[in-house]
Amino acid sequence: MMGLAAEMAGKMSISGVQEKVSLRLSDDKSRFEIAPTGGRYILKPEPSRFAFVPQNEHLTMRLAELVGIEVPPFGLVELKDKAIAYIIKRFDRLDDGTKLQVEDFCQLDEKPIRDKYQGSGELCVRILRKYATEPLIEIRKLFKVLLFSWWASNGDQHLKNFSLIRTPEGRWRLTPAYDLICTRLPIPSDRDLAMPICGKKNNITKQQWLDFAKYAGIPERAAVRLLQEQIDALELSLRFIESSFLPDDLKIQYQDIVQHNTALLR
Ligand SMILES: Nc1ncnc2c1ncn2[C@@H]1O[C@H](COP(=O)(O)OP(=O)(O)O)[C@@H](O)[C@H]1O
Ligand SMILES: [Mg+2]
Repeated sequence: MMGLAAEMAGKMSISGVQEKVSLRLSDDKSRFEIAPTGGRYILKPEPSRFAFVPQNEHLTMRLAELVGIEVPPFGLVELKDKAIAYIIKRFDRLDDGTKLQVEDFCQLDEKPIRDKYQGSGELCVRILRKYATEPLIEIRKLFKVLLFSWWASNGDQHLKNFSLIRTPEGRWRLTPAYDLICTRLPIPSDRDLAMPICGKKNNITKQQWLDFAKYAGIPERAAVRLLQEQIDALELSLRFIESSFLPDDLKIQYQDIVQHNTALLR
């Protein structure tokens, strides 16, 4: 699988750091087939450097869904050798195969890929003000994803992990969320956000989230509600983590992380 993924790299219209394989459903919908072109699904096998990344991404995407963040259909699959891989349905293809235009925030800000970490929450807000058809709506969605990402200790939420998509009606909106993962589990020393808010990548306080909301034009009452929604998701999140596919020690670490970060929001 990894050899195949390496072979596909560069041939597929999917970029990113981790190896990926493009798949489609067979005609009788009974199995996935390799699809060098026209794939409807993206398979991310377990990377060689870190353990339990598919299970981590699967859980983190579920936790995002729990606070109302829109995500594509996704799941875990077992490969022939029993390895677990993460699979997600593409959001940029219509049922008839039409490809929708997608531009990530690195492209929208006209930055080369190597500058994908040269972003900030504030820059993302400005990008939405400039390009989204309904900036106020999209900015609230962005705020939720950035808040959640921090809460789940995702230190890899850079400019290429946000994109706008052009709907068939010609409206530019945020894509469903993708690539959400608790990077602190595989890299315990990773305590920094990829993109600062209020100039800070760590030790962020409740007040700084409120200040960032103010910059984003979100009224204070609405911002307080958004923080409260993340706080209210704690109990169910702990249960989701408990019933996830992570090993017990990583479950406990993940639970400690979200409990700690929830306390910072109170
Ligand atoms: N469900 C999806 N539909 C369409 N494009 C996607 C989807 N998920 C990811 N992508 C695109 O593929 C790229 C790589 O996927 P991502 O999950 O970010 O992998 P990596 O962990 O390698 O960064 C993303 O930057 C995005 O442009
Ligand atoms: Mg990515």
